Amino acid sequence: MTIPARAAITAVHGYVPPDVLTNAELAVMVDTSDAWITERTGIRERHILKGEGLGTSHMAAEAVRGLLQKTGTAPGEIDLLICATTTPDMQFPSTANLICDMVGIRDIGSFDVQAACSGFLYSLTIASQFIANGTARKVIVVGADKMSSIIDYTDRATCVLFGDGAGAVLLEPSADGTGIMDSLIRSDGAGWIHLHQKAGGSRMPASAKSVDQRLHYVHQEGAAVYKHAIARMAEVAGQIMTRNNLRGNMIDWLVPHQANKRIIESTAERMGLPMERVMVTINKYGNTTNATIPLCLWDYEAKLKPGNKLLLAAFGGGFTWAGVYVQWAYDGAKAVKFNGNGKAS
Ligand code: ACO
Repeated sequence: MTIPARAAITAVHGYVPPDVLTNAELAVMVDTSDAWITERTGIRERHILKGEGLGTSHMAAEAVRGLLQKTGTAPGEIDLLICATTTPDMQFPSTANLICDMVGIRDIGSFDVQAACSGFLYSLTIASQFIANGTARKVIVVGADKMSSIIDYTDRATCVLFGDGAGAVLLEPSADGTGIMDSLIRSDGAGWIHLHQKAGGSRMPASAKSVDQRLHYVHQEGAAVYKHAIARMAEVAGQIMTRNNLRGNMIDWLVPHQANKRIIESTAERMGLPMERVMVTINKYGNTTNATIPLCLWDYEAKLKPGNKLLLAAFGGGFTWAGVYVQWAYDGAKAVKFNGNGKAS
């Protein structure tokens, strides 16, 4: 019997657009304050993609180009590309198709995954199956969102939360048994009512009325989503820990979806992890939806050592939630130094 190959994350790269929107600037746009946003969410600023005609694919392509460059991989070597996004450039074709064209990857399978903020972990789980069954050897998973394209900047309850960005990882068959050890993806469609975009899909196609009524923006009932996020993030982390015989003191890094600092702290506390072992980037990027987890890996790359145990956990619209247990495959400090991406911390 052939033993399925384990997928290892062998590189990570990220991109955030240069324009920054601070809490102070938001306080001029809506009735809010730096103190409220910082205290209730942990966010201080977020990056916003500006420029006509630039969509999610622009940021994703930047992240993928960087990934190819830093690993010396030719576009022709990639077997599969999956893009996790909630803000595709267009209804069709997929953003994954567009990214491939932009970076010169041709004649491979590429598709988008829609699972709101859990999409990156859903995509990692899917990608690992292609490696396990031997049909792909080099797979790119990119999580990217231009949340500013679906945010109502007159709604203080949502406009302070989100930012734009992209993060990409390269997956390859593990050489030494490290890699994606376990994953769990879950959903509950009854949760849609609390977090969705009403218009622009087939249920309510765009019309003058839908635009007038501002129905193309994120609708979120924050308190309901918060309650479910707190419960599910901890639940999925606990399930992954139990079935892999992991205790809090055995986990080197929690890599949580970045929606609210309080949700992150609560998840860490329930797992028995001190905050020094939790990746946090929400202060500078906000909630970039599918990009939060790969951007965390990119930001903390220099600190990651081979064999480190990482628990990745996400919760988002749908509702969806997911957990992935990873044993890190390479010395992040060397990758950062070698590639000179200037992110050594
Ligand atoms: N500035 C000042 N006051 C505000 C702001 C703001 N930006 N936003 C809301 N408020 C007010 C509300 O109007 C309310 O006032 P009221 O009591 O007079 O009615 C008060 O603050 C409290 O509002 P809550 O919504 O109860 O505030 P809460 O402490 O819950 O924080 C937040 C709101 C930050 C949105 C929180 O609920 C949250 O983080 N929710 C979860 C978000 C999440 O996890 N999303 C999932 C992923 S996103 C995805 O999948 C796309």
